[in-house]
Amino acid sequence: MITEVELAVDATAKLLEDKIKSRRARVGVVGLGYVGLPLAVEYAKAGFTVTGIDVNEEKVRRVNAGDSYVGDISSATLAPLVESGKLRATTDFAAVLDLDTVNIAVPTPLRKTKDPDMSFIVSSCQEIARHFHAGMLIILESTTYPGTTDEVVLPMLLKSGLQVGTDFFLCFSPERVDPGNPNFHTFNIPKVVGGTTPACTEMGRVFYSQALQHVVPVSSTQVAEMVKLLENTFRMINIGLANEIAMMCDRIGINVWEVIDAAATKPFGFMPFYPGPGLGGHCIPIDPFYLSWKTKQAGIEARFIELAGYINGQMPHFVVDKVQNALNDAGKPVKGARILVVGVSYKRDIDDMRESPALDVMLLLQRRGGILSYCDPHVPTLKLEDLKLQSVPLESAADADCAVIITDHKVFDYQLLVEKAPLIVDTRNALKGVKSPKIVRL
Ligand SMILES: NC(=O)c1ccc[n+]([C@@H]2O[C@H](COP(=O)([O-])OP(=O)(O)OC[C@H]3O[C@@H](n4cnc5c(N)ncnc54)[C@H](O)[C@@H]3O)[C@@H](O)[C@H]2O)c1
Repeated sequence: MITEVELAVDATAKLLEDKIKSRRARVGVVGLGYVGLPLAVEYAKAGFTVTGIDVNEEKVRRVNAGDSYVGDISSATLAPLVESGKLRATTDFAAVLDLDTVNIAVPTPLRKTKDPDMSFIVSSCQEIARHFHAGMLIILESTTYPGTTDEVVLPMLLKSGLQVGTDFFLCFSPERVDPGNPNFHTFNIPKVVGGTTPACTEMGRVFYSQALQHVVPVSSTQVAEMVKLLENTFRMINIGLANEIAMMCDRIGINVWEVIDAAATKPFGFMPFYPGPGLGGHCIPIDPFYLSWKTKQAGIEARFIELAGYINGQMPHFVVDKVQNALNDAGKPVKGARILVVGVSYKRDIDDMRESPALDVMLLLQRRGGILSYCDPHVPTLKLEDLKLQSVPLESAADADCAVIITDHKVFDYQLLVEKAPLIVDTRNALKGVKSPKIVRL
């Protein structure tokens, strides 16, 4: 026999499920950045009416003008969705009153002490909680330490007096977007989701199944939170290993790139990671410290993370030493040398400067007396402490004493660079296969 309570439970869940499956659910996305805007676009494309909420007025204005500021979303994709009324943006959290679902994709940086900065999650959830109502599905997507969804977000929502898993549904789903990757987008990257209760997980699964290709339900929010930290810690540590191997190879005169390429021919048990000038972006240099912060509280030192963090942090210094040595060998002291930095965003083919190792390399070179310029078609201007720089054409390598490839954008004409530059330090193996005495490789 079904009790009244169970009927009520089923009724709330059933109503929301029906709305989601029939695309009548009104979808909200809080935080319209590199993660949130593509997600909002994906749901609008799937036929949902989507409201984006962001505290940044300029981003809201641009979304409503159909003018994209995220590289992976063209204005040609965004504008028709806005014009047809499928997608709009606002700074007003009162919009939550009319929403059935809310995905939260706000920043999760580190404080100077390398502790998690939860202020964006807390402030956005406080605003959501003010307009929260029964029958909602809330999904946190910001990368964070295990426990955040149930320990930080849930208590704010429970203040409403509503019950999780019956009156409303709460999940965590890690975001795996890879800006600039032409093969994998929000739509075709498998989506892991874990809920506070089994009913929450199921609601999350139903929600993502409407717009994304493949959904992977897991048993709890903590598992879902930990999945993301494992993925990014795995990358960070393996990049650290590649960087350490690069420094070893350098010392004993072996080409590390050739070693990695040959090792990668092994069809099992090896996955190539590559050295470089240092970690960059919003994820790999930051997320593992969310894990080490959490485990420290449980009395476990995250030793792999600390070690890889140290080695990766040495790379800008290693690159600057290489530049200085290369200049010395060419009979030109670094003090007063004109150095062109080629590519400054944190990775290939994107405009994102967050945590870019180019900034560290440039600052260190400047401190040693180098006179800096840079070329990056994705980054027209750059501020480096008191120095304001504008991107220069690649041809100006002819006026430099040394060019340093930090980011290997596809648009660069590498043949031209080799022709013009008197000396090149290549930290990305962008000049693979090119033989020239003026090339110094990492
Ligand atoms: N960028 C990536 O490649 C990537 C990949 C995977 C996961 N993530 C994670 O996703 C989350 C978001 O990252 P992002 O790169 O999209 O960041 P972002 O800075 O590009 O976007 C975040 C947006 O949130 C807005 N915002 C800040 N505080 C807010 C508030 N209180 N209310 C509403 N909006 C607010 C900001 O104005 C900004 O537009 C982070 O936790 C990040 O670690 C990012």
